[in-house]
Amino acid sequence: INIILLGPPGAGKGTQARRLVEERGLAQLSTGDMLRAARSSGTEMGKRVAEVMDRGELVTDEIVIGLIREKLSEGGNGFIFDGFPRTLAQADALGQLLDETGMVLDAVVEMQVDDQALVRRITGRFTCGHCGEVYHDETKPTAKPGVCDVCGSTDLRRRADDNEDSLKTRLLEYYKKTSPLIGYYYAKGKLTPVDGLAEMDQVARQISAVLPLSS
Ligand code: AP5
Ligand code: ZN
Repeated sequence: INIILLGPPGAGKGTQARRLVEERGLAQLSTGDMLRAARSSGTEMGKRVAEVMDRGELVTDEIVIGLIREKLSEGGNGFIFDGFPRTLAQADALGQLLDETGMVLDAVVEMQVDDQALVRRITGRFTCGHCGEVYHDETKPTAKPGVCDVCGSTDLRRRADDNEDSLKTRLLEYYKKTSPLIGYYYAKGKLTPVDGLAEMDQVARQISAVLPLSS
């Protein structure tokens, strides 16, 4: 199975992608995570994109398409595209890459969440720096304060772009450059909207219903 999780910042793409990794054995391809990894390892590319990301703007198509091309060339059992594609140029490039590797795009899940809820989600989010588990101050706190439920690490972090200013830019970028993909995939008969405001388990069930039974 190859699916795209499409939605604004804070829609729950990462949260649901991690569940699909567990439940379906798919590989999560998050361009956001890849770019953050490049930053923290101090690569040239990481340094170049750091300021752009912190402002909440999109990184160039060339860079993110390169990252995805590399991952797809390694092959695999099925992918969840999380935060990619984000522009029409990226969507065209993905189509081509899938064709070249003989893979098929099964579905595009559009996670719908209104702006007010997105602000609450983003400003309350923190993640485990060790295993990547995603938490929220109100909707998904850790069982023990300051300790990751999954791996026991105390390295809990907040992202530099999770503030109201950057979020405003991220939302504008989404509506300007990414939301046209909704029509793009609808026209291809691939799009399924999902109510992203529902509880995490319910969102997971809605996504499961869209996917073919086995990978
Ligand atoms: P990226 O890392 O992709 O960030 P994003 O799209 O802004 O998405 P988020 O990670 O913020 O949100 P999410 O939808 O994964 O939500 P989550 O599950 O964490 O991109 C960051 C930056 O990198 C971009 O701004 C850009 O600069 C660059 N970039 C990345 N990809 C790029 C590309 N393709 N092209 C160009 N530039 C690119 O959930 C959010 C919170 O809500 C959490 O606290 C969670 O616990 C909570 N939550 C989740 N689901 C629910 C629920 N159902 N109910 C209640 N709370 C919930
Ligand atoms: Zn952890």
